[in-house]
Amino acid sequence: VFCNKMLRWFLLMITIIYFIFFPTPWAGAHIRCDDVFGILGENFTFPVKIDQRIMEIIWTKNKDKVAEWEGQGETTYFPSFQYRSLLHKENGSLTLFNLEDNDAGTYMLDYMDSGKKNNVSTFILSVLAPPSEPEINCNISGDNLVLKCTADFQKPLNYFWKFSDKAIAHQTQEIFIPKKSVGISEKATCFIKFSQTEKSSEIFLTQCYPDGKGNEWVRLCVQV
Ligand SMILES: *[C@@H]1O[C@H](CO)[C@@H](O)[C@H](O)[C@H]1NC(C)=O
Ligand SMILES: *[C@@H]1O[C@H](CO)[C@@H](O)[C@H](O)[C@H]1NC(C)=O
Ligand SMILES: *[C@@H]1O[C@H](CO)[C@@H](O)[C@H](O)[C@H]1NC(C)=O
Ligand SMILES: *[C@@H]1O[C@H](CO)[C@@H](O)[C@H](O)[C@H]1NC(C)=O
Repeated sequence: VFCNKMLRWFLLMITIIYFIFFPTPWAGAHIRCDDVFGILGENFTFPVKIDQRIMEIIWTKNKDKVAEWEGQGETTYFPSFQYRSLLHKENGSLTLFNLEDNDAGTYMLDYMDSGKKNNVSTFILSVLAPPSEPEINCNISGDNLVLKCTADFQKPLNYFWKFSDKAIAHQTQEIFIPKKSVGISEKATCFIKFSQTEKSSEIFLTQCYPDGKGNEWVRLCVQV
């Protein structure tokens, strides 16, 4: 029992002394936390921009070390990140190649600048499936063709359109084009873009018309 008490007292003292002489790294440090996301299979670079000269860098994921650079020599990469990550010593950012689902997690960048000040940034990385192939839906509304491009994705996408390989100004998911301004044999292409992923699909404008031939419901009765 005595031994046990001594041990507890000893541990308490050690802890107090530790905190007196080694102020906690989070005390006084500037802590930022950002939600970031990358696309499965793409390369992802954390959006870090450090202007000061960097003396030391440590990246961790869920508290396990990813990469470490001690101001000189080579960067050390830890096992599951070896050969698939790159630390940019000049700006502190880290690139992960060929993103996998299990790369999602909480990453921390801890660096020391030339003034020996520590700074910690936290990033919560989510890995998203890439957008699906887009689908174009087209129909007629009054004097206009109405085209709508749809793709499954968890974030807003950028859309752009071409008519017979000429880009048009509208950069929206749904566009209205006067019937008169486009030829019936033209084709429309919708492009979606997100990060490094771009996909497209096309449709012939004849498909906008109910009979699929560019005629509206005009029926001729020919009497013999
Ligand atoms: C990712 O980076 C590697 C190495 O720099 C490169 O070969 C590859 O093409 C990149 N992948 C994509 C999807 O950009
Ligand atoms: C950091 O530097 C690398 C290599 O020069 C560059 O590819 C990367 O985009 C930079 N990171 C940022 C956030 O600017
Ligand atoms: C820590 O980094 C942030 C953003 O990069 C910056 O605004 C801040 O001034 C830095 N703090 C210190 C103590 O260097
Ligand atoms: C016409 O297209 C619009 C936009 O894609 C759609 O909401 C609507 O249901 C379509 N109408 C018909 C009759 O297909």
